Amino acid sequence: MSTITNTIFSPELAERFDKLVTIYPVRRSALIPMLLYAQDEVGYVSEAVIQEIAKRLDLFDLEVRSVLSYYSMLRTKPAGKYNIQVCTNISCMLRGGYEILDHCKSKLGIGHKQTTADGQFSLEEVECIGACCWAPAMQVNYDFHEDLTPAKVDEILAGYSDGKGAK
Ligand code: FES
Repeated sequence: MSTITNTIFSPELAERFDKLVTIYPVRRSALIPMLLYAQDEVGYVSEAVIQEIAKRLDLFDLEVRSVLSYYSMLRTKPAGKYNIQVCTNISCMLRGGYEILDHCKSKLGIGHKQTTADGQFSLEEVECIGACCWAPAMQVNYDFHEDLTPAKVDEILAGYSDGKGAK
């Protein structure tokens, strides 16, 4: 087991990681949760994050990178303060998911995986987010928004722009 003497994470997160690697029978099982926690703290999965997590799990950097390329919820570039994920999978697609995505694109002036110049919003087209019964749906950071219409999207985005969030 590698010893981390100079962590890039906060003391709280470093301590959490120290515990996390002990609760799985196989250390590498902690990889996804560690990447998600690190992304929450750092804002994205940076090179330094990859290197420290690989070291903590006795993996090669390349093994961490190959997992990163598979999971769309993990990002290697900073996102906006509010990361909008619009689902266009089957249920959402049938109920106007692409209309919602196109509306977000024109409203924000950005495309898939892009961030507004002021760093407030980023946009992604994603697969099912588990809100199919309330399609079309999108997720903004950890908030779900359902039964969307373009007008409802405008209200939601205005809420985040005000700094209040839409909920
Ligand atoms: S298909 Fe969009 S949330 Fe499931």
